[in-house]
Amino acid sequence: MSSLHVSRSGPLRGSCRVPGDKSISHRALLFGALCDGVVEASGLGKGGDNLSTAAALRALGVDVRIDGTEARIAGVGFGGLQAASAALDCGNSGTTIRLLLGLLAGRPFETEMCGDASLTRRPMGRVATPLRQMGAAIDGRIDPARPNDIFPPLRVRGGALAGITHQLKVASAQLKSAIILAALQARGASELREPARSRDHTERMLGFLGAPISTRADGAIVVDPTGWNGRLRAAHLTIPGDLSSATFLIIAALTVPGSDVTVENVGLNPTRAGALDVLRAMGADLTIEPIGDAMGEPVGRVRARASRLRGVRVAGELALRAIDEIPALAVAAARAEGETVFADLAELRIKESDRIAALARELGRAGARVTEQPDGFTVEGLGARPPAGGTVVPEHDHRIAMAGAILGLGAGDETAVPAADIATSFPTFAETLGNLGAPIALR
Ligand code: S3P
Repeated sequence: MSSLHVSRSGPLRGSCRVPGDKSISHRALLFGALCDGVVEASGLGKGGDNLSTAAALRALGVDVRIDGTEARIAGVGFGGLQAASAALDCGNSGTTIRLLLGLLAGRPFETEMCGDASLTRRPMGRVATPLRQMGAAIDGRIDPARPNDIFPPLRVRGGALAGITHQLKVASAQLKSAIILAALQARGASELREPARSRDHTERMLGFLGAPISTRADGAIVVDPTGWNGRLRAAHLTIPGDLSSATFLIIAALTVPGSDVTVENVGLNPTRAGALDVLRAMGADLTIEPIGDAMGEPVGRVRARASRLRGVRVAGELALRAIDEIPALAVAAARAEGETVFADLAELRIKESDRIAALARELGRAGARVTEQPDGFTVEGLGARPPAGGTVVPEHDHRIAMAGAILGLGAGDETAVPAADIATSFPTFAETLGNLGAPIALR
């Protein structure tokens, strides 16, 4: 298996683009398949996770063609989905399996879904419970160590669903989106409340496509398909660049002396952009310039210049809005002066890996002192001291792999990162960093 080899970098300079937003690309493919006619999507992310969604839709009878970053999806509507002849392989992708579960909860056939070793350990009871309450039959693998939950492989037999009034126990966009997809197929209205607002790409895109969904002033999401013809309009979908991918480049620029990097065309949805607020609080020299709007998603360019960072506290709604960026932010914390506390992040333990344990291990290997808590961790920044290189062990977690690589840009000795995991979300990571001047090679 090939590895990325990273060594101490001189200044990173220039402007770059990142692949299409992973969360929005999943939704463009899935909701495009439900549209009334052919949908074209541009700027599609082509990481492994998005390709898993495309392959699952093909297995359900949808014609999905991808050419470069353009996708052409022949929408079939909910009613046009066909039973798959084999289990849908969702690979490493939690978003694929959870959103499909909601979509298939309303279809009158049985579907099996499976995934890789990492996905097979991720809890699905949080999604299955409300969908069962709505009328779907769902079962999955039982783990004797966690008997109150279910895990992939999953089997769903969909059917006639009834609307639900549901208070989510965790703020999770995957869970919320699964219930919304089921609610669109249900009899009667549904009302969902989250303990805090998770990323709202589903609400924005479905609203843009004409679905009967609205968000009340008190934050409750209402889906009322009564009187709706069940069809979404086949509009062109323009997918912004992925802020989660951009954050790795931004933090690379902030932490390598003399750097000045601009990332063009990135999504700046405020329910997702907490990392930029954290970095500003750390003293980062960032210029954020809004340039427009794509399907109700704000888009802009972000310029990052090397900065002296200081430790901060990341907790509460800020932590939720930066949930996927904690691995990158942990690198910023390791290179900062002083202590950074990451709290209210129990969900990190059930992402693609246990990210709290993985970051404690990787930052610790690089020489930063890290203390783990059940729902977070504390990093004593290295300040002016360089991190150590070594071999990153990402455990099939793309973001741990990329965090290890950008930490390696400051190390005196070489850092090696297994390359395969990175392709889950950012297949052009090494090339993009290399073009900015980073000493990074695939061997
Ligand atoms: C995502 C939601 C979040 C996020 C994940 C993508 C989505 O997960 O961490 O990377 O696209 O809906 P949760 O729903 O588990 O919080």
